[in-house]
Amino acid sequence: MTAFETIIEPFRIHSVEPIRMTTREERIAALEQAGYNLFRLKSEDVAIDLLTDSGTGAMSRDQWAGIQRGDESYAGSPSWLRFEAAVKHLFPFQHVIPTHQGRAAERILFSQIGGEGKTIPNNTHFDTTRANIEFTGARAVDLVIAEGTDPRSEHPFKGNMDLTALELTLMTADVPVVFMTITNNAGGGQPVSLENLRGVRALCDRFGVPLFLDACRFAENAYFIKLREPGMANRSVTEIVREIASYADGMTMSAKKDPMANIGGWLALNDDELAERCKTMLILTEGFTTYGGLAGRDLEAIAQGLQECVQEDYLRYRIASTAYLGDKLHFAGVPIVRPVGGHAVFLDARELLPHIDPLEYPGQALAVALYREGGIRSCEIGTIMFGSRPDGSEEPAAMDLVRLAIPRRTYTQSHLDYVVEVVTHVANHAADLRGFEITQQPAQLRHFTAEFAPLVAVA
Ligand code: F0G
Repeated sequence: MTAFETIIEPFRIHSVEPIRMTTREERIAALEQAGYNLFRLKSEDVAIDLLTDSGTGAMSRDQWAGIQRGDESYAGSPSWLRFEAAVKHLFPFQHVIPTHQGRAAERILFSQIGGEGKTIPNNTHFDTTRANIEFTGARAVDLVIAEGTDPRSEHPFKGNMDLTALELTLMTADVPVVFMTITNNAGGGQPVSLENLRGVRALCDRFGVPLFLDACRFAENAYFIKLREPGMANRSVTEIVREIASYADGMTMSAKKDPMANIGGWLALNDDELAERCKTMLILTEGFTTYGGLAGRDLEAIAQGLQECVQEDYLRYRIASTAYLGDKLHFAGVPIVRPVGGHAVFLDARELLPHIDPLEYPGQALAVALYREGGIRSCEIGTIMFGSRPDGSEEPAAMDLVRLAIPRRTYTQSHLDYVVEVVTHVANHAADLRGFEITQQPAQLRHFTAEFAPLVAVA
């Protein structure tokens, strides 16, 4: 049979949601009302919502069927047993503890092993992970390889950990756990290689420290390994995921990403004694150990999503559609993080807006312009998200990026063509953009609720 090159969406559309178009004037008013914080917009005022790929994917027919099958028994529901089996099929850890989302798993774990004087390394901590660690008084450090913070480096595994830096940290600090985020969200959705995971595992063994995965986008990471790591082309994604799991002692997980559920997560681990303590915390704040704050129907949607997200025709389409957007922007001359990541295209706002100082938030300026000009909602991943320190001081983050996160199975190729047109238009007028100042902010996780004012009014 002829092998055609076009990669099609391996699904057809079964139910649709309307997109409301707004005028530029309406969007200017909406921005003012939101204090220029895109998290504060009404989603109905957004045409293409690329704020996040979290909980925003389209569920499949079989996930909706699972929702009907959901059994809401408080304890020992068959939906729980299906969920637990689906998790253990890919991640065979001893204990699986369901939670309402990933950050609940983080909070429970770090409340038990964090605290003053502790240091927790990661390739790059994402926002809630860093905040949950710092909330306990522990220090969160990012030890990604140097290529991981160079937007132009074409390294195939830019999520890898700097093993020398990790060794030094393990020698000099009190480290209760080493984390690896797969794929590395804050660093551009970049994958981690099996080889690097083996290196991290060896160091953890030498120092007797457990290794945990922040595994939200494990299937995308495994597919990149299949495509890019020597000798892996003939291995199935499921086999690669199991190999990843074999190097770890546990994981935290948000089921809102690769498993394509609207809500949910889990903490999984092998250590019996730690699991016992975590389960007690779970019952205290989330729910009993067989539902953890989720409805039985949510457990069903996750169990089914876990089967779908490792299917290779799905992943081929998923990675191709993100690359389609990234490559079009790249060839149009828009600076992006290369190579294109799994779940998102990251625009390099610092490079595009050299006239805006990092402490005047070039990422925010770009994100606001994308909404104003085209109704596209994106997310600043830069100095606003990561530039404020626990002591209240501020410094530029490693990069000033704007993330165009692609919800799974949700937007079509013409939606992405529209995004290319809007982003290219804004990039061509980049010299006109001005920075922002923060007029109001909370002590932690300021990007969600801060308010901004433009430094110069834009016509
Ligand atoms: N870890 C990573 C790497 C994440 O990307 C997220 C969420 C979490 C943990 C927390 O999971 O939302 O279920 O509590 N990231 C979303 C995002 C919100 O937009 O990237 P959660």
